[in-house]
Amino acid sequence: MSSETASKSFRPINLEFLAKGGGESFDIFIQSDSENFVKFASTEPKHQDKVLRLLEEGEIDQDFFIKEEDLFKYYHFATQSLRSVMDNPDVPVKTKTKKVYEVSKGVMKEFFSYNASSKILESSEEVMEMMEECLSTADAGFAGISQITSKDYYTHTHSVNVGLYCMTFGTKVRLPKEDVKQLGFGGMLHDVGKSKVDADLINKNGRLNEEEFERIKVHSSLGAEMLADMCCYKDIVIAMAGQHHEKYKGGGYPQGLSGDEISMHARICKIMDVYDALTTRRSYKKALNTMETLTLMTRQMADDFDPKLLELFIKVKGPTMTWFISFFLPLN
Ligand SMILES: [Fe+2]
Ligand SMILES: [Fe+2]
Repeated sequence: MSSETASKSFRPINLEFLAKGGGESFDIFIQSDSENFVKFASTEPKHQDKVLRLLEEGEIDQDFFIKEEDLFKYYHFATQSLRSVMDNPDVPVKTKTKKVYEVSKGVMKEFFSYNASSKILESSEEVMEMMEECLSTADAGFAGISQITSKDYYTHTHSVNVGLYCMTFGTKVRLPKEDVKQLGFGGMLHDVGKSKVDADLINKNGRLNEEEFERIKVHSSLGAEMLADMCCYKDIVIAMAGQHHEKYKGGGYPQGLSGDEISMHARICKIMDVYDALTTRRSYKKALNTMETLTLMTRQMADDFDPKLLELFIKVKGPTMTWFISFFLPLN
């Protein structure tokens, strides 16, 4: 085993993302002390087999790292091995969905935490395609989805949750397959502009003052610009990033649009964005349960949402929610 200092950046990886079928190989390291990393497995097949054997035996109790330059290979490997899990009829769809969710979070965490190149987002496109397959096979609905989502309010977790909710909504209202994918993708990328805002502000443990809020608000325009500059995203995705803080009756930002001036996909994204934020605990507020959240959204916040889409959202959340509509809706 050779030792290397941290002159090159090392990134923590999740070994559970790796499984047979990945097709790429890269060196894997463990940290020997605060400065040094030691190669644990090289790209040689016998070493890679050692890692896979460990995985199968479930004997993993330490952190593993790769060199920064291998990140893209790593995520390529992760998505390829995810594909082989997806193609395995013996793996339950709930397990598949959970794995896809975890890899999606890994991709978004990398993007937000290390301000990685936007190239890393290419992996998220493949992952979202697999998520669409899971959702259309399982018809898990929001109840099933709530069992796999975590609620830690990291931007990467929130992003994946919103993508997943958008996609679940699109599946339940039977939008065409391609629209569902774009909706999920836009949901996952709606806050990418936050990667350009001061991280201390994004992760601030408390309420924002007015000046801080103004600084955060630029993330929607920045996000739309970033995605447009990448030249590979459809208008739906760009609009979701740029318009998800617009309000149905006006008064939102950045443009103060209202009604149908706001893209339908952004109006859907707004509902899912607020739903995830309200149902997540933060240092200064508790997480609301579904009923409290929907009551708040249909009462105090009613002007923010497209009432027809909000009603549809409540309907597709499941039969237990349908009685709610007769009490709290119609909204207008
Ligand atoms: Fe946002
Ligand atoms: Fe958001």
